[in-house]
Amino acid sequence: MKIDVLSIFPDYLAPLELSLPGKARAKGLLDVAVHDLRSFTHDRHHTTDDTPYGGGAGMVMKPEPWGEAFEALAIGEHDTIVFTTPSGARFDQRKAEELSARPRLVFACGRYEGIDQRVIEHAREIARVEEISLGDYVLNGGEVAALAIIEAVVRLIPGFMGNPESLVEESHAGDSGGLLEYPVYTKPPVWNGREVPAVLRSGDHGAIARWRHEQARRRTAERRPDLLAPSTLDDGTPIARAVPGDAPELLTLQRACWVQEALANPGVEIPALHESLADVRDWLGEWDTYVVRRAGRLVGAVRGRLEGDAWDIGRIMVAPDLQGEGLGRRLLEHIQAVAAEAATSYVLFTGAGSERNLKMYKKAGFRLRSDVPAPPGAVVLTKPRRAGA
Ligand SMILES: C[S@@+](CC[C@H](N)C(=O)[O-])C[C@H]1O[C@@H](n2cnc3c(N)ncnc32)[C@H](O)[C@@H]1O
Repeated sequence: MKIDVLSIFPDYLAPLELSLPGKARAKGLLDVAVHDLRSFTHDRHHTTDDTPYGGGAGMVMKPEPWGEAFEALAIGEHDTIVFTTPSGARFDQRKAEELSARPRLVFACGRYEGIDQRVIEHAREIARVEEISLGDYVLNGGEVAALAIIEAVVRLIPGFMGNPESLVEESHAGDSGGLLEYPVYTKPPVWNGREVPAVLRSGDHGAIARWRHEQARRRTAERRPDLLAPSTLDDGTPIARAVPGDAPELLTLQRACWVQEALANPGVEIPALHESLADVRDWLGEWDTYVVRRAGRLVGAVRGRLEGDAWDIGRIMVAPDLQGEGLGRRLLEHIQAVAAEAATSYVLFTGAGSERNLKMYKKAGFRLRSDVPAPPGAVVLTKPRRAGA
């Protein structure tokens, strides 16, 4: 694989000389070159930025040095230009696997407020383009992101790892079933009064494999329940964790959905109809909430949280024009699948007159509980959680 990195701070990429990519280079698997973007400027100050059109804070990277650099590097249609940007798709192990199969990656490291958009459009005409974010936070420049992506990609190049088996069971690896890795131990068997779990010293490989799987599942459920859940609709639309910026649309969707509830349950007090934007923002911080967007529009949502040992499910919302297509059923399945590890049952409330909801919940295995108190006009339904669900 060939990797080029374009940056105005080439020294930042010095770690590429160190062990990991260094080893790959020695094996002839990798050819890395770091280029100073300023060498593609022609003024005395080697200027790479200018003020933004339309005003605003900060500076924007000028297009000309990038265009010249792409030309000098003879980038072609089989190459991939990776723009590191907080507005890109979030980097993950799948993307690392995908990139590890590409013959050449050219990393374009942004600085300031980012790169003139025309550079990205131009890049799409000459090569494959990936806009990748390291995560939902803002770095000062793309170099750290490029280093992280390169490290994740290079170790997947066939022939790079001394023992390729070690890639198989890692966190996020496709073969690990999407689980985080189990805890690992080495010698001595007792350290600071802490013992290595006996099963790992038992020599019983079956028992060790079962223990590791259970630990991986437990760890994933506790730390990243989203990884355990099927997180897309049948058509591939993601069911995503809600973010604070979803609050205004959630408020709108909530009002639209609960007007129908109000019509089906005359005279019943429905809190969801009266909440303010501030109320929605508040509960978003307190519940695990998931949303579905179609063509950018927020069309579905659901929330859940642990109350005692029950997983309390609520606010299943589907835009009125999309009801009857199975979206509510999928949201209900999803919120059960991401329930906290400690939950032994699921619980939800609905209006006593909401026949459509009641039908869906009963079909999903929920049972009416007249023995459990409910707010006036509402009913409670519960469902035991199956072991391992
Ligand atoms: C200060 S940031 C620019 C942020 C930009 N104004 C925005 O709000 O999207 C400067 C550069 O750092 C890099 N960068 C910052 N955060 C990143 C992230 N989460 N993932 C990848 N690159 C990032 C990008 O190359 C970006 O062009």
